[in-house]
Amino acid sequence: MKVASEAGRLKREGVDVVDFGAGEPDFPTPDNIKRAAVKALDENFTKYTAVDGIVDLKKAICDRHQSDFGTSYAPNECVVTVGGKHVIFNLMQVLVNPGDEVIIPVPYWVTYKDVVNYAGGKCVFVNTDESQGFALTASMIERHITPKTKVVMVNSPSNPSGAVLDDEEFRKIYQVTSKRGIWLITDECYCHFLYGGKPYSVAAEPGAKDTVIVAGSLSKTYAMTGWRIGFGLAPKAVIDGIIKLQSHMTSNPTSIAQKAAVEALRGPQESVQEMLAEYTRRRAFVIDRLRKIPGFSVQEPKGAFYAYPNAGQAMKSLGIGSALELAERLLKEAHVAVVPGEAFGTDEHIRISYATSIAELERGLDRIHRFVQSA
Ligand SMILES: Cc1ncc(COP(=O)(O)O)c(C=O)c1O
Repeated sequence: MKVASEAGRLKREGVDVVDFGAGEPDFPTPDNIKRAAVKALDENFTKYTAVDGIVDLKKAICDRHQSDFGTSYAPNECVVTVGGKHVIFNLMQVLVNPGDEVIIPVPYWVTYKDVVNYAGGKCVFVNTDESQGFALTASMIERHITPKTKVVMVNSPSNPSGAVLDDEEFRKIYQVTSKRGIWLITDECYCHFLYGGKPYSVAAEPGAKDTVIVAGSLSKTYAMTGWRIGFGLAPKAVIDGIIKLQSHMTSNPTSIAQKAAVEALRGPQESVQEMLAEYTRRRAFVIDRLRKIPGFSVQEPKGAFYAYPNAGQAMKSLGIGSALELAERLLKEAHVAVVPGEAFGTDEHIRISYATSIAELERGLDRIHRFVQSA
């Protein structure tokens, strides 16, 4: 968000900035979803709803999760929140007491660290192996478990690395956490954007519903970032805790956005496949171009829509000491906005979002290439 605001400032000053910072689809929200919101307005569906969302939406969330992943949640095990970020914040407030430890694989989505800290918890970071595509394994998690471990947070496909956890390893992580009564939160924000392989949710494992919690979002799947609809699937006691908190904080998510979300989940799903096909094309383009930049190396993302190149060698040749400095110089001198790896817990990477057109990708990658070569 900081990068986006600095890039926005430069743009307002008339600078032609190529923006690879934003983690949001450039596609418009599909028409059927927009029409459902207009209909809700026309029908004056503009009042308070239940704090945890309308029952129709909760059923639609449970049904879609069942048909996509084979889970079996009931509406009282579901809460609708103001975006996926909100459910993660609420979960940390409800589950984490001061001093509790939360295991977070690195690189991580920037918000996890701050919401754990805000809840008084302690982040325990687990480094993954970049040469293995940032692979996470159950034994890496197991080595970091202590009597204070309360939650293990997993995000697959990952923002920022695009890594996808192997199903078997995910199952093992579940076994490691469940036998110790540790909560396993699976952030499925990018679950529909997989480049190959079948969608998988660890919540579908037999018995998993007791200790596994799904944090979900419609933001990326349906290009609905501004509508702010997310959800949690969890044991009823956890859901009830979130409802208590939410009832004094946001109350319900916006009524008309909830109606739009029902249409998103129950209506035609072709738009999701169309977006995935376009991301697939862009991924190939970006990875090919990044691999041609001297001193850059990059793992191929297996999901989501980010490339996370390691620019360590290039930084060395350029005399640049940190990814933050590289990002600052790219913005100021090459007019390309990227997110520095420090935001995600690593210091030699930059994150490039390819949720933008091939033409923009070409322009931006040309600039990065020239910057690296000319400096
Ligand atoms: C990994 C991850 N989880 C959750 C979210 C939450 O998305 P939102 O709050 O827009 O639904 C994001 C957004 O960038 C994300 O990258």
